[in-house]
Amino acid sequence: TNILKEKASFGIGAAIKTSLMNENGYTQTLQKHFSQITAEWEMKMDAIWNSSTNYQWTGADKLIDFAINNELDVHGHTLVWYKSFPSWFKNAGYDSIAFENHVKTYIKTVVERYKGRVISWDVANEIFNDNGSLRITDCPVYATFNDPIAFYGRCFQYAHEADPDAKLFYNDYSVVIAPGKRNAIKNMVQRFKAEGIPIHGIGDQFHYRVNNDKSTLRNGLNDMASTGLLIHISELDIVMNVDKSDSYVFTEAEAKKQSEMYKHIAEIYSALPAQQKFAISLWGVTDKHTWLTGSWHPKEYPLLFDQSYQPKEAYKGFLSGL
Ligand code: XIL
Repeated sequence: TNILKEKASFGIGAAIKTSLMNENGYTQTLQKHFSQITAEWEMKMDAIWNSSTNYQWTGADKLIDFAINNELDVHGHTLVWYKSFPSWFKNAGYDSIAFENHVKTYIKTVVERYKGRVISWDVANEIFNDNGSLRITDCPVYATFNDPIAFYGRCFQYAHEADPDAKLFYNDYSVVIAPGKRNAIKNMVQRFKAEGIPIHGIGDQFHYRVNNDKSTLRNGLNDMASTGLLIHISELDIVMNVDKSDSYVFTEAEAKKQSEMYKHIAEIYSALPAQQKFAISLWGVTDKHTWLTGSWHPKEYPLLFDQSYQPKEAYKGFLSGL
């Protein structure tokens, strides 16, 4: 087969935006190749939580309906992330008790609404720095709790109470290349297990670059798997224009290098123990629409399908590694 989801023994996901569903190539590519979707933005706290009593469901509901109509699983992203606390919440000046009560209500409301439709959730996202210390800058959780990890543990419990069948993940970036961060995550997992807190998986976003060292990726991924938990490659894309150069050209030689990196990632993930494989999710569908051209550099070509939704060399490499 040359269909990604048919070849893989695990989920093949994509981050999507409902605003792009009016492009035929977009929906057709999702229907053909993918078995799972994640909201790129529409299920984050600042998209849903307008005020303590007002929830905006339009985008998330539309995404869920699309998933049901197309037999796609939905991975929920993300319940608690320092970057997506809405400003009304951050500015409210809540003490730790009020803060937690509000977040508890938010988690229960969202997870219960999509119970049985969202198979898995990123409960917490990006709580550590690469050296393993807790993120302080801009993090309202750190500023509010003496023991932030205990707070996150209770968030996992709230999500579990709302949907006991949902798989609950901790998600972060650079996990496989930053040993300090990876150790902090492993320690947190140990603590949660010892305390009986339901955590089922860990995700590494995998926003990597074409020149990342391949054996480092492999060793780091295997080390994540030493936890015994489900492993999610949760936001995969591969930066090509690493120097952010205006004169960068995505040549055939560049396409070949990208293809080899995608193949390597598919291979190292496929080699994990069967019961720990969950999904590889791409952070987008096409080079036409990628967060990197907004936040990285306009000349960027990070995904599996080109501007016209044609499969790239990267797609062939990825497929061959599955
Ligand atoms: C990004 C989205 O791609 C953007 O569209 C949005 O404006 C900001 O968030 N790590 C994550 C994702 O966990 O949620 C981020 O997504 C990319 C980095």
